[in-house]
Amino acid sequence: MWESLLETAIHAPSPHNVQPWRVKIHSDSEAGLFIEKRRTLPKEDVTGSFIILTMGLFIEALGILAANRSLSLSHELCRELSQFTSEALDKVGEDVLQFARLRLSPNGAAPSPYADELFMTRRTSRISLLPRGVPVEAVRALSALAAEWGQKYEQITDAAAIERILAANTDALFEDLNASGYHDEIVEWFRFTDRQARSTRDGLDYRCMNTSRTAFWLVARAPQLLKFPVMRPLLKRIYRRQLGTVPTIGMLAGAFWKPEDAFQTGRFLMRFWLELARHDLYIHPYGNLVTNHAAAEWCERETGVPDIWLIFKIGYSTEPPMSFRRSVEEVLL
Ligand SMILES: Cc1cc2nc3c(=O)[nH]c(=O)nc-3n(C[C@H](O)[C@H](O)[C@H](O)COP(=O)(O)O)c2cc1C
Repeated sequence: MWESLLETAIHAPSPHNVQPWRVKIHSDSEAGLFIEKRRTLPKEDVTGSFIILTMGLFIEALGILAANRSLSLSHELCRELSQFTSEALDKVGEDVLQFARLRLSPNGAAPSPYADELFMTRRTSRISLLPRGVPVEAVRALSALAAEWGQKYEQITDAAAIERILAANTDALFEDLNASGYHDEIVEWFRFTDRQARSTRDGLDYRCMNTSRTAFWLVARAPQLLKFPVMRPLLKRIYRRQLGTVPTIGMLAGAFWKPEDAFQTGRFLMRFWLELARHDLYIHPYGNLVTNHAAAEWCERETGVPDIWLIFKIGYSTEPPMSFRRSVEEVLL
């Protein structure tokens, strides 16, 4: 049963597609959930909020899939969530850290509203969106789900405001790629060739990033080009073109930065992303607008929305490329 749940749960999203989860099966009903230390992002995720969110999201994925099989999943966290800051992780000697104990019980849980197939159709779409807004019923469903979890879903559809947000995201991205800590950490997850992507089955595959291999390689090897006075405006225009049509910007806001909030927020994000898939909607998060402090402050002033922890383009697109996942065998300890 654990392997059957994992077969689908591994398709859950994670920042930079790091897939930090490892699982040790103890019996038909019990398993341990671990974090693989080399799959954390200590430079970008200093507070540990993103790794905790990702583990919350993965536990929720397993819980949804268990419910679809009339089982209920309970979890017990193994350590204080304050122990996932980059400072704390730095002191950990082990390659894997126990995160939670998981237990399955056959108490006939009702199936979740999210069928297994949605885990396969849910994707990040970095390709151009179609020029269609998000229908009112979908906005209502997304807002109601957010409210259920104590979160807020907000949208922007004004074209000029969208352009300002995209420009701020590009500035933050170009700046962050020139900060050595951020640069070295993210580039480790770039996959420049099909062969590399297929062999690691993780990370940011150039196919999914909607970029050419050359542009992806240049950003990794010569980020200073993004700062040169002549090159910068040109590269900004190229990047804007790559983002394509953006009819709507969505935002999720609420409690996130405290470790205990990050866990619940991750559980919510799994459901939110499946709800999007249920409406055939795709998103592409703009992480730099959250993790770059100056950009995050600007974003709050621009949108009037406090506590944004995910901001993204949202809408319909043709089917985007599917990113790879490590196999269940590789996830098992
Ligand atoms: C919390 C979170 C933040 C993310 N931020 C970004 C981002 O800033 N830019 C981006 O292109 N993708 C972002 N992603 C998407 C991941 O890169 C993506 O989920 C992963 O590569 C797997 O691809 P898939 O979603 O298509 O399955 C984020 C995902 C999560 C869970």
